[in-house]
Amino acid sequence: MSALLTAALFSLCTVLVSGQSPSFNGRFGQTANGAPFPQRFSWAASSMYVPFQDAQNITIAFSRVPGTGPSHFEIRVDSQLLESASTVGAGPTYVSVPLAGTGARTLTITKITEAALGEATVDNVVLDRGSFGPMRTNALGRRMEIIGASTMNGFGNLGSSSGCQPSYQACLLMLQDWHHPAEDAVLAVGPLVANHFGARFALLAWSGAGILKRGMIVRPGNGAEQTLVREAPTIPELYSRIIASDPGSSYDQSSFVPQVVLLDAGGNDFSNGTKPPSNWAADYRGFLQKIRSNAPDADIIVLSLPSNVKSPIMGQASAQMYAQALSQQVQELKGQGFKKLHLLSLPATVMQDNSLGCYGHPTQATHMEMASIVQAFVANITSWGPVGTGASFLYNN
Ligand SMILES: *[C@@H]1O[C@H](CO)[C@@H](O)[C@H](O)[C@H]1NC(C)=O
Ligand SMILES: *[C@@H]1O[C@H](CO)[C@@H](O)[C@H](O)[C@H]1NC(C)=O
Ligand SMILES: *[C@@H]1O[C@H](CO)[C@@H](O)[C@H](O)[C@H]1NC(C)=O
Repeated sequence: MSALLTAALFSLCTVLVSGQSPSFNGRFGQTANGAPFPQRFSWAASSMYVPFQDAQNITIAFSRVPGTGPSHFEIRVDSQLLESASTVGAGPTYVSVPLAGTGARTLTITKITEAALGEATVDNVVLDRGSFGPMRTNALGRRMEIIGASTMNGFGNLGSSSGCQPSYQACLLMLQDWHHPAEDAVLAVGPLVANHFGARFALLAWSGAGILKRGMIVRPGNGAEQTLVREAPTIPELYSRIIASDPGSSYDQSSFVPQVVLLDAGGNDFSNGTKPPSNWAADYRGFLQKIRSNAPDADIIVLSLPSNVKSPIMGQASAQMYAQALSQQVQELKGQGFKKLHLLSLPATVMQDNSLGCYGHPTQATHMEMASIVQAFVANITSWGPVGTGASFLYNN
């Protein structure tokens, strides 16, 4: 409906049609009849790239996927962040970006929040003057998969739960009214690393999920009024999906084979302060073996976050058990001949300013510090060098 409405409203403008295919970063499903829109955005830090030239003004139509919460987007032209958009209401949301100058450019639409919080469709992109295309390919052929739960999605990195109570209340508000993003996944450790190298990537994460655990996001409310927003899939389930929330959307792993896989997966299985069931270890190893069978030559990096970063989320005892379990499973797999598997234990010094984001999660500054160590590690095990500052959104399409 909104696509038709937009076409009617902007009938003097150029509307992107089938055949002028946009390109993507992250996992996206098929649209009906191969039309470019509506395109469902599910995963955090997933992007759509639309090439165009000589436009004076560009308008994007978004809708919230019914039954889900709001989604938050960033809109870039040639890697420069120009606008943000949120699908808060039930109806369509239109965002226009006026442009100066002419020439070939690339529009990048990036969802910065995860499916657990909400999903949305981009229903149309309309140009005032100018035309779509041509696609500029800068792809370096670098591919990463980033797998985990809240920390990998950057959950809480836009807020603060340290210090005074009012800022903690701001975190609660983010989840209560959903008008403010609780996270910007582009500023989380994995996407920071991928964008540093201009690598295409898929961020496969869901707050609360474990290898075994179906975590859940609960909207903070007045006691008994708390409502379950979404039950989480397990991380292995998430890994097999095209659309994060759709169990029936099976992903063709051969369509995107990463050279580097970065994981912080399984901590939520320990977050009870008790050891997870005895089959956790076998399931964890089974998951890594599944990743290996899909990406036979990938460097698989198991991130082990320091206790000062992990404990505020899951408790001291759980954080220690999780770190020990990761170390033990990686050692055992290596002992069984599992190649190119790395345990990367980050030092306590990654924690910046002794401060925390929402609900004890890492801040933007801590994510950046973690990313700088992971970048050095990835550069060391691959032959990848960095792309220019801010240019990354031109490279990972
Ligand atoms: C951009 O286009 C939209 C839709 O036609 C319009 O509402 C908006 O005023 C335009 N902005 C500029 C600066 O031309
Ligand atoms: C906590 O542990 C108990 C006992 O193992 C289990 O029954 C329960 O489901 C766990 N709770 C969560 C939230 O994982
Ligand atoms: C890079 O690899 C070398 C040789 O394995 C190692 O000594 C060094 O510590 C590594 N550097 C980083 C940043 O991982």
